[in-house]
Amino acid sequence: MASLRKLSAARAVVPSVRRSPRVASPQLRATEDFRDRILRGDCIEQLKALPTASVDLVFADPPYNLQLEGALNRPDHSLVDAVDDEWDKFSSFADYDAFTKAWLTEAQRVMKPNATLWVIGSYHNIFRVGAIMQDLGFWILNDVIWRKANPMPNFRGRRFTNAHETMIWASRNASSKSYTFHYEALKAANEDTQMRSDWYLPLCTGGERLKDQKGSKVHPTQKPEQLLARVILSSSNPGDVILDPFFGTGTTGATAKRLGRHFIGIERDANYADAAEARIAGVEPLEDHALALSPTKRSEPRVPFSAVIEAGHIKPGEHLVDSQKRYKALVKADGSLMVGPVSGSIHKIGALVQGLPACNGWNFWYKERGGKLQSIDEFRAAIRKAMPID
Ligand SMILES: C[S@@+](CC[C@H](N)C(=O)[O-])C[C@H]1O[C@@H](n2cnc3c(N)ncnc32)[C@H](O)[C@@H]1O
Repeated sequence: MASLRKLSAARAVVPSVRRSPRVASPQLRATEDFRDRILRGDCIEQLKALPTASVDLVFADPPYNLQLEGALNRPDHSLVDAVDDEWDKFSSFADYDAFTKAWLTEAQRVMKPNATLWVIGSYHNIFRVGAIMQDLGFWILNDVIWRKANPMPNFRGRRFTNAHETMIWASRNASSKSYTFHYEALKAANEDTQMRSDWYLPLCTGGERLKDQKGSKVHPTQKPEQLLARVILSSSNPGDVILDPFFGTGTTGATAKRLGRHFIGIERDANYADAAEARIAGVEPLEDHALALSPTKRSEPRVPFSAVIEAGHIKPGEHLVDSQKRYKALVKADGSLMVGPVSGSIHKIGALVQGLPACNGWNFWYKERGGKLQSIDEFRAAIRKAMPID
């Protein structure tokens, strides 16, 4: 097969760095023993050797089961470099489903209770994968569309340009609520707008694309590091262990190392595993200070409104107003507000006066002092600043 021949050539230029054993020894049971290693062999067999509840995040880029029939040519009759490798071939949908169920079952077992899993795929496989995930009890949090900035055209002109892949992001089960999601950091990186579920990123090209001596791609489906960076930064913390059971050229490992995370890679093809090892060996992790997480609003200590009164910033009997002085509420000694006959929290009364279902009272109410308005959120910030750091 042409692409496999190209891979043999790639072996000549990609130096092998450190050989991992073909199958993990059963004696190696602690997660530390597997960290930052590529386990060579079948992913189901290798996953079975990993300790239960040991990884913080899984990123999986499984075979697409493209079911290509014959070669694909461009209008000028040149051959399209399609994914026609043996690893992508399954005898039937049932065969593919059984394989998918087996690796997902093991992945779920090795996930920590609050770990999450990302699976990327195309229309060929992602619906089957998603259904099996739900059957296994995974709880889907989002499906994220990777919209490709530079997709391959539809050469035959018989369908739309296939310009995206879908990623399913899921927690281990419906009750895993404390999963990692850096909402605030993503928002800050997105011009203070919530990060959306459609990501517009280019395919992996240029210097990042691993090539053999003849200039051919080492792997047909190497993913862009930008895509992995967004996945890893959004849903893991520095020091976390990230598992990729379909490691390929090690994009997950290279990005994880750069971002101060650990990886565990599993890859069956020795050429790809060699290429991944060499690639990861050349990655320099970012400095700790560049990786430090910004405190998110949710991770900051909770301050009840009553603490603002206790600290003397506002006195019981005073009134709070909104920024345009349309509404006025009386501050009660117990930390609630009162408008007419109704009492409630700063949030409840803020929502009530505006006729809205919800309101963040910290951003809505102000104290008037010397003709100037001062947000009650400033008082909260002052109290937080004075709190001891754990
Ligand atoms: C879609 S590619 C992943 C590419 C990878 N994300 C990258 O950026 O290079 C899927 C990979 O899974 C590997 N693979 C397929 N079936 C496997 C199995 N049963 N066990 C381990 N690896 C497998 C293939 O050799 C292939 O490299």
